[in-house]
Amino acid sequence: MKKNIKDRVEIRNLLVTGGCGFIGSNFIRYLIKRDDFSGRIINVDKLTYAGNPENLADIASDYKARYIFEKVDICDIDKLEEVFKKYNIDAVCHFAAESHVDRSIKTPGNFIQTNIIGTFNLLEAAKSRGEMFCLFHHVSTDEVYGSLGAKGLFYEDTPYRPNSPYSASKAASDHLVRAYYKTFGTPVTVSNCSNNYGPYQFPEKLIPLVILNALDGKPLPVYGDGKNVRDWLYVEDHCEAIWTIMMSGNIGQTYNVGGNAEMENILIVQMICDILDEIKPPADGKPRRNLITFVKDRPGHDRRYAIDFSKLKKELGWSPKESFKSGLRKTVNWYLNQSKWVANIRTGAYQSWMEEQYGS
Ligand code: NAD
Ligand code: TYD
Repeated sequence: MKKNIKDRVEIRNLLVTGGCGFIGSNFIRYLIKRDDFSGRIINVDKLTYAGNPENLADIASDYKARYIFEKVDICDIDKLEEVFKKYNIDAVCHFAAESHVDRSIKTPGNFIQTNIIGTFNLLEAAKSRGEMFCLFHHVSTDEVYGSLGAKGLFYEDTPYRPNSPYSASKAASDHLVRAYYKTFGTPVTVSNCSNNYGPYQFPEKLIPLVILNALDGKPLPVYGDGKNVRDWLYVEDHCEAIWTIMMSGNIGQTYNVGGNAEMENILIVQMICDILDEIKPPADGKPRRNLITFVKDRPGHDRRYAIDFSKLKKELGWSPKESFKSGLRKTVNWYLNQSKWVANIRTGAYQSWMEEQYGS
């Protein structure tokens, strides 16, 4: 069985799924500029509300020979098989998913289809490539491990205890990936990562939602008592971790990825308010912290996530580079400077989701 990249053929045609989403678009931008990758990237995306080709408009025009976009739903196995054949796909980095916990509570069916059936289809398409295929990297989440109390960390061998339809569907996809490795010898690696933040994140997730609402003088919804804890990782650090695992990780292995940045939600919201007050003082002179509004808690809300990433650090030498303080400031500045991107997002699906959640 293939052990690591030294035994893998060089990746020539990498299929990236969900490349128009938040992490996928950051990953494509990161990888295509690297000196140690000269292959093509074939980005397969259904373009749901979360997929935005504008995220990669510059890459599409600057790398015409090496970047290809195909609008495909990973639930459509026939289309997927066509793409695998047409581009001689030899590796996959799989991001495509329904990714928002609150949506998984309202409409779980999409999560079952895309996250489970879609992953199954990709594994089947990869299997049908036989010896031509060298790597299936599956991008997953720490939410599969469930919720922690005040102490403790998630390790790679922590038992799976998903609590939301989102995390349950991701857990199912992780199990399928493992099963294809064990049963069929599909060359796989898996990463389970903590919460990401940074440029191009759809403003339904906590950090961009709070930035945009605070700029508009709208309420900043904090669920429950605001003391739920997440371990935050700047998205570029995640991209580097994924590529490190794809290049040097052992086949069949799972690696936890985390930011060493545990933070209560309420503290993050306060930090964003303070950064914005400093960079863009509010017109009415009132501190943006006044906008913080405690709202009804999310059902099944996991209390705390915290990652032990020492396996990835010891075996492959990866550690996060960005501190939470500097990463958050960079992120706030990015949203302030991307007025066109933000305006386009606001007129579409973001607007209807916000109206449905909180009224207009
Ligand atoms: P996202 O919601 O921003 O993007 C998802 C992308 O997948 C979109 O471009 C969407 O159009 C595409 N997509 C959805 N359904 C599809 C389908 N059926 N066929 C093809 N494309 C489809 O998500 P994200 O935050 O970038 O997350 C990417 C991956 O990383 C997911 O697998 C997620 O579980 C995982 N992850 C995310 C985080 C995080 O904090 N955002 C943390 C850990 C792991
Ligand atoms: P989110 O960004 O949705 O990521 P996840 O649920 O995958 O961790 O939420 C991060 C944390 O912020 C989570 O504890 C829920 C909380 N939260 C709020 O308090 N208010 C909000 O409006 C949102 C979207 C999230």
